Amino acid sequence: MTARNYVEFVHVDKSYDGRTLVVDDLNLEIAKGEFLTMLGPSGSGKTTSLMMLAGFEAPSAGRILLAGKSLVEVPPYRRNIGMVFQNYALFPHLSVAENLAYPLSVRQVSKAESAERVRRILDMVKMSAFAERKPGQLSGGQQQRIALARAIIFEPDLVLMDEPLGALDKNLREHLQLEIKHLHDELGITVVYVTHDQSEALTMSDRVAVFNEGRIEQLAPPSELYEHPATPFVAGFIGENNRISGRIVARDDSRYTVETASGTRLCARSERNFALDQPILLSLRPERVRLGDDGADGENRLTCTVKEIIYLGDHRRIHLRLGDDTEIVAKVANTAGLGGVADQAEAIVSWGGADMVMLADGKAG
Ligand SMILES: Nc1ncnc2c1ncn2[C@@H]1O[C@H](COP(=O)(O)OP(=O)(O)O)[C@@H](O)[C@H]1O
Ligand SMILES: [Mg+2]
Repeated sequence: MTARNYVEFVHVDKSYDGRTLVVDDLNLEIAKGEFLTMLGPSGSGKTTSLMMLAGFEAPSAGRILLAGKSLVEVPPYRRNIGMVFQNYALFPHLSVAENLAYPLSVRQVSKAESAERVRRILDMVKMSAFAERKPGQLSGGQQQRIALARAIIFEPDLVLMDEPLGALDKNLREHLQLEIKHLHDELGITVVYVTHDQSEALTMSDRVAVFNEGRIEQLAPPSELYEHPATPFVAGFIGENNRISGRIVARDDSRYTVETASGTRLCARSERNFALDQPILLSLRPERVRLGDDGADGENRLTCTVKEIIYLGDHRRIHLRLGDDTEIVAKVANTAGLGGVADQAEAIVSWGGADMVMLADGKAG
């Protein structure tokens, strides 16, 4: 076993009704100590994949291994896996400390050792003052901290989390994202995390597996997913993007010239191989579009019409029309000036060829 394949999904299929595959030929290797996130829209098969890894659902085909062993034959109480779900299942009649001691008593940890571990974990999740409370006397965020503590107190091999922050408000969610990430870094545990929230996935993960209709569309570190999305689905799901459809009309090594239907010529750079005359989809992040004639030598330098300027506090969104058939959005930080850009007026915009990701799909889906 190498470090890469601590957890292994090998050609895993899952069907609940014997007809549709909700997980379709899943292949995935997760390294020991890694924080891997399964990200995708609702119904894309994330929870099913996690349940199969936990051993609660059996694959219809294929194998799932943890440290080289299949879990299917291992009864749940013998699996050394911690789990956290959206609806924290704390025991309501037990105190916080008793909830935390429970997984230790099941594993026959001594009373003294248990008390010490409960003390330490409460300290780690900043809940020391709440040891004697019942779950009903805690807020949602506090309950979820305890659920998290309970999932890691017995030092599991693997921790599975399914939308654990889904019920919390935005500020608390962002705060706990960082806390979970720091706990992972400190403890060196292997985490498989499920979310439909792309910013959560980008914030927390070593690598992200993007799920779509039961398949992994791309598996990569956060920055690579954002900078180099492999498919139109990933480009659309991770962050915001402008989609420009066109056709390749010229190529010079990694420099492609793409023409839109209305005749606008754009320069795009890619190390990938695309054929001349091929329909192509270009993805351009709104924050890469520079406004105004600031002398920057963007390989793309175009005149367009400003359709709308929307003020959003920390940034502005500028809706632009390019030629007859293309609209793009530019996102401009509130520190930058607007370069003389005014509503309904003509404006010069620019961006580099490498700022556009080329995707082999002519459809703007
Ligand atoms: N126990 C089940 N029985 C039948 N269908 C299910 C069951 N659990 C999930 N599904 C279906 O499987 C698909 C994938 O669901 P799920 O794995 O929960 O996706 P996700 O977690 O990405 O939202 C969905 O179409 C869902 O309706
Ligand atoms: Mg789910």
